Amino acid sequence: MTSGGTAPAPPSTPSTWRPWEIAWQEALYGRAGFYRRPEGPAGHFATSAQGIPGVGELLARAVASLAARHGLRHVVDVGAGRGELLGRLHDLDPGLALTGVDVVERPCALGESVAWVRSPGGPDLPGLPLREPALVVAHEWLDVVPAPVVELDERGSWRLVEVAGDGTERLGDAPAEADLAWLTAHWPSPGEAGARAEVGRARDGAWESLCRNVSRGLVVAVDYGHERSSRPPFGSLTAFRDGHEVAAVPDGSCDLTAHVAVDSLAHDRRLRQADLFGELGLGTATPAYDLARSDPQAYLRALAARSAFAAATARPGLGDFWWVLREV
Ligand SMILES: C[S@@+](CC[C@H](N)C(=O)[O-])C[C@H]1O[C@@H](n2cnc3c(N)ncnc32)[C@H](O)[C@@H]1O
Repeated sequence: MTSGGTAPAPPSTPSTWRPWEIAWQEALYGRAGFYRRPEGPAGHFATSAQGIPGVGELLARAVASLAARHGLRHVVDVGAGRGELLGRLHDLDPGLALTGVDVVERPCALGESVAWVRSPGGPDLPGLPLREPALVVAHEWLDVVPAPVVELDERGSWRLVEVAGDGTERLGDAPAEADLAWLTAHWPSPGEAGARAEVGRARDGAWESLCRNVSRGLVVAVDYGHERSSRPPFGSLTAFRDGHEVAAVPDGSCDLTAHVAVDSLAHDRRLRQADLFGELGLGTATPAYDLARSDPQAYLRALAARSAFAAATARPGLGDFWWVLREV
């Protein structure tokens, strides 16, 4: 995501110490949670789905072409924001069946032909059993599924990081056995006191339950992430508000996000956005200069398409996003 937008007033803040995972869930999906705010994600940051000229169209073409490759005519967007990607998919191919899933009521701007399901938020999904085959895409969902945040103490043991409503932190208990097992398997201790990690078990579980909802099709997670060889030594928990990256405070006034351990999600294939868009042939050639004279509008459109492709595949940048694919 990249930043942009207006800031709402924060709700009242809790005064007790809580493990990050619990405070994070409440801050984003509680009654006054950040993602229930009327301005939606686009009020605070841009993603490939919205806010970057031409990139939303490319994202829609990528999703539509994956659906076509797999013979799928139904696309379900989990964590659909305000339906930006769905709207573009409809413009591209009005014959596609489309369903959006998010924590808010159906967005007013969305056409009646798009179905909408309300979700509890975070790792929890609504009863979605999809009987017909579908391509299910979750674009920037897993990074906002809360995870336990842990830190190595002076004795070299992982401890849960607890947080107060104003963002002050302290070390708490040892993580649950299952979380320690996840860390051993996927995020080996770097041995230095102060090193941090976000435990990906909750994301793995959320991904599993999404895949279980699909009877046949392709499930796709698109997110920024890391692999075992490139874990961030101090984790990646951060926050966005009003167009800026800000301190992570679980008071409902900002997004809270951390990169996804993409290699721990059960999947068939993963590749970077830059590679996938190339593979799908979404790039366009530089328009011939003659076109500028014969058809200036077409020339400008071709230039815009080319710069959108460059933005969507830039590395470092949006081209680094991981596409994690699982056939069901
Ligand atoms: C970072 S925003 C991404 C929005 C959009 N996909 C995009 O890329 O612009 C994350 C979205 O996931 C939604 N979300 C979080 N947990 C969810 C869940 N369990 N079910 C459905 N949507 C969820 C949030 O409400 C929010 O709209």
